[in-house]
Amino acid sequence: MSSILIIGGGVIGLALAREFHKKGFKEITILEKGLIGQEASFAAAGMLAPQAETNNADAFFNFCNESNKMYPNFAEELSDATSIDIELDRNGTLYLAFTERDTQEIRKRFEWQKDAGLEVELLSARETHKLEPFVSPDSLESLFFPNDWQVENRKLLIALKKYAELNDIQIIEQTEVTNLIFENEKIKGIQTESGKLFSADLVVLATGAWTSLIKHDEGILQMPKVKPIRGQMISFHTAKRLFTKVIYSRRGYIVPRKMGKILAGATVEDIGFENKTTDEGIEMVRENAIEISPSLANLPIDEKWSGLRPFANDGLPILGEIPNTENLFTATAHYRNGILLAPITAKVLVEKIVNKKDSEFLDKFGIKRFNSANAI
Ligand code: FAD
Ligand code: GLY
Repeated sequence: MSSILIIGGGVIGLALAREFHKKGFKEITILEKGLIGQEASFAAAGMLAPQAETNNADAFFNFCNESNKMYPNFAEELSDATSIDIELDRNGTLYLAFTERDTQEIRKRFEWQKDAGLEVELLSARETHKLEPFVSPDSLESLFFPNDWQVENRKLLIALKKYAELNDIQIIEQTEVTNLIFENEKIKGIQTESGKLFSADLVVLATGAWTSLIKHDEGILQMPKVKPIRGQMISFHTAKRLFTKVIYSRRGYIVPRKMGKILAGATVEDIGFENKTTDEGIEMVRENAIEISPSLANLPIDEKWSGLRPFANDGLPILGEIPNTENLFTATAHYRNGILLAPITAKVLVEKIVNKKDSEFLDKFGIKRFNSANAI
């Protein structure tokens, strides 16, 4: 059996490790530069929202939708294996309109989704308030997506980490991979910051926003660039749960969790690797949440945080084999949807590696779609 090295212990690296293990691999190691599951995957809002977060019935929508459908089973299997409930919440999602422009946008969304045969309802202001009484009285109408859900992403990370620990998947934290080492177009291993070498039969880069920082022989590797896009978030707390559904506007979203916790997000900022909150960013997120529900206006902010979303030039994931190498793969650039896309990413990539099974998604989201001008 081959030895597998997964670089990066976010939701994507952890989901891949589990999938390799399910296929019978015994020597799986995750190398993580910090602590497992503390970067973008921790910062996320946990929304599983193909209908709220894509703009056409295209391959990307299908990829998101297929992954969403995997979640009930994924959650159940994780619960059976780890006794951790990842709090998959299937109450659905609302998308509110407050202005004429918002109304045009949600009607356009309603049309393409109806044409594609998806479940979506256009609700009047009255119907919206009946579903969610604490939504702003200024909302004009809304869309309801019964099949856009949410999950407690931090619990998901804990469950995936426990799965790894229970199944002898080796986790090595505080270990940054700096170099990939090749011999005759085959990856031989990697080198860490401290100079330590690890060899493996197969390496997968699941390095999120940091993917482009790893050094390699540029003659061999044609990796498209991945850059960080910062998202700032906040949370509030109320004594009882005010909302049952995830609620979006065109400017922000709120995510009600168990025990009265409400997340609100998020900024989208192209400012490099500065992973911190700013007063302006937090205020903007707060105002957008208050637009959705003025009942949030008097609540103190409970927690504020930020994370770096991994973004490729075309905003789509980068999945599959890295050209000109035999045993190096990547799963990165999931941008705003990596929590949603973790199950399907693991499934299609591992099936390709283990069973040589092709997938339309690997075609669409493979590295070959980039021309040499985009390559670093
Ligand atoms: P990460 O979780 O960032 O993990 C990558 C890991 O690789 C990190 O732990 C890092 O330390 C490690 N690493 C990197 N380089 C090296 C190296 N050289 N050596 C060793 N380790 C390395 N998605 C959704 O589906 N739904 C949402 O609601 C949602 N909301 C979001 C809200 C915010 C504010 C943000 C920031 C993101 C959100 N996302 C959401 C997007 C989602 O969080 C990301 O797409 C996803 O977490 C990417 O997973 P990842 O494992 O690739 O990255
Ligand atoms: N998907 C939510 C975000 O990226 O902010």
